[in-house]
Amino acid sequence: MFARSSFRVASRAGAGIRPAVTSMPIRTFKSTVIRKDDASEDHIPVVHYEKGQRVTQDIQVDESKPVSSPVGDIETKAVPLKGGVYQQLTPTLQKFCLQGKVAVVTGGGRGLGYNMAQALTEVGVRGIAIMDVQQELGDKAARDLSDQTGVDVRFYRIDVRDGQAMGQTIQDVVDHYGQVDILINAAGIADSNIKAEVYDHEKFRRLIDINITGTFLVAQAVGQQMIKSKKGGSIINIASMSGTVVNYPQEQSCYNASKAGVVQLTKSLAAEWARYNIRVNSISPGYMDTALNRVPALDAQKRIWIDQTPQKRLGSVDDLNNLAVYLASDGSAFMTGNNCLIDGGYSIW
Ligand SMILES: NC(=O)c1ccc[n+]([C@@H]2O[C@H](COP(=O)([O-])OP(=O)(O)OC[C@H]3O[C@@H](n4cnc5c(N)ncnc54)[C@H](O)[C@@H]3O)[C@@H](O)[C@H]2O)c1
Repeated sequence: MFARSSFRVASRAGAGIRPAVTSMPIRTFKSTVIRKDDASEDHIPVVHYEKGQRVTQDIQVDESKPVSSPVGDIETKAVPLKGGVYQQLTPTLQKFCLQGKVAVVTGGGRGLGYNMAQALTEVGVRGIAIMDVQQELGDKAARDLSDQTGVDVRFYRIDVRDGQAMGQTIQDVVDHYGQVDILINAAGIADSNIKAEVYDHEKFRRLIDINITGTFLVAQAVGQQMIKSKKGGSIINIASMSGTVVNYPQEQSCYNASKAGVVQLTKSLAAEWARYNIRVNSISPGYMDTALNRVPALDAQKRIWIDQTPQKRLGSVDDLNNLAVYLASDGSAFMTGNNCLIDGGYSIW
């Protein structure tokens, strides 16, 4: 998925920071109680409520239908925007470009974050700081994007929960690039198929810590620098349609709550920071075909997800790219505090 050959090491590294340059499915309903170990790929336990009573059912699924999106993991190389081409664009198209801007992308080692970073390299950014906990993925992402486009891409191995290290890391980004104009907050994890009544407390806290607190800590560190620079900027938080609708059929109260929190955090920051010319918006994806979901245990559920999506497919890993570019650019200059659902129509039913 994922080509500049020389890696540069950051001049200054704080604790915990390692910069490197581097249809369909719902057919049979049996009103029966399903134990956890009954779950398999051709049927899934579903819970709903009838007159206040919790009813557990077994949904049989059609395994003959493919569950991958048409694009899947096909690797595409980034193509840089050449100066001469930019000059020939119309004023409207130029507004979509990010000439000379610097971006931070968390969770940029793979998946949606990596793909959005790739899109940024195609519209004129001069620098990207990728932040992720996975060293090898981050190294490769930085190397590939640099090789393909000549953009100065650096990878920082950092956990978004580490507020102190994040402050130092964002300072290092500013020391190196001179500025930070765009933040895409894509780092996040998901837990699903866990009943609320038995949700492990530590597991619950960990997810909230990564998805909400982590999103806040990065936004705060970047926001401080944007305020200091007096130039403002654009912050894009990756929430989820799970922050707006409750997913079906899987039980995932914690993830849903965490993403609702990201949406409200987005609006709150947008209101507070508008005076600094910082815009804050969120993207709420529907079901996307990424590694996060690409686990055999979810194959049966994916068929239900696809059936309940008007466009009858999962989102492709690059389906957020153009919205991210738009939100980062001056094309969306009068847009802040917005939560943009991009879900193949899932949430309209
Ligand atoms: N895939 C979907 O269907 C879907 C739908 C809605 C929202 N989202 C959200 O989009 C974002 C990206 O999802 P994805 O599908 O690309 O997932 P992914 O697992 O492919 O990528 C997430 C990246 O975040 C990194 N990460 C995880 N925890 C981290 C931490 N504590 N600190 C730093 N980095 C960390 C991971 O290493 C990984 O590289 C997530 O916030 C996710 O909740 C995904």
